[in-house]
Amino acid sequence: MKLVHALVLASLAISSTAFAGDPVAGERKASSCAACHGSASFPGMFPLVQLAGRDADKLATKTNKYRSGKLFSPLMNMSVMGLSDQDVEDIAAYYQKLGKPFLPMAGIRGDEDITAAK
Ligand code: HEC
Repeated sequence: MKLVHALVLASLAISSTAFAGDPVAGERKASSCAACHGSASFPGMFPLVQLAGRDADKLATKTNKYRSGKLFSPLMNMSVMGLSDQDVEDIAAYYQKLGKPFLPMAGIRGDEDITAAK
């Protein structure tokens, strides 16, 4: 059982190093997201959708669905319209690196919600 765990963790580590986002650039680029989605020091106006600590690949995938209009949410479609692919990757890397939401709370969205929203 422990070995299986170690293998799963190792493969997660490999897939996150393969991710090209730059969390330092991402912190600056996420300043427009932080008002709604929070940061290291603020839960944001929508604390149930704090993005800190979420999986970067999944965040990028879902953000891109708002960019392309595949997912409809006026606030989000407007907020991500002007981003480049690199911006999205950097922002996602920044949020993943924060490790955990500023304000953990019941009902907060997790990575599984993103998978469900395909
Ligand atoms: C004006 C407020 C606002 C801003 C600014 C904003 N968002 Fe959002 N975002 C929302 C809301 C509200 C939702 C939930 C939408 C829904 O479920 O219909 C959301 C959802 C998301 C989700 C899906 C989260 C999940 O768990 O399903 C991602 C990813 C996301 N936003 C990324 C971003 C990024 C990246 C930025 C900055 C470039 C950003 N958002 C800026 C309001 C905002």
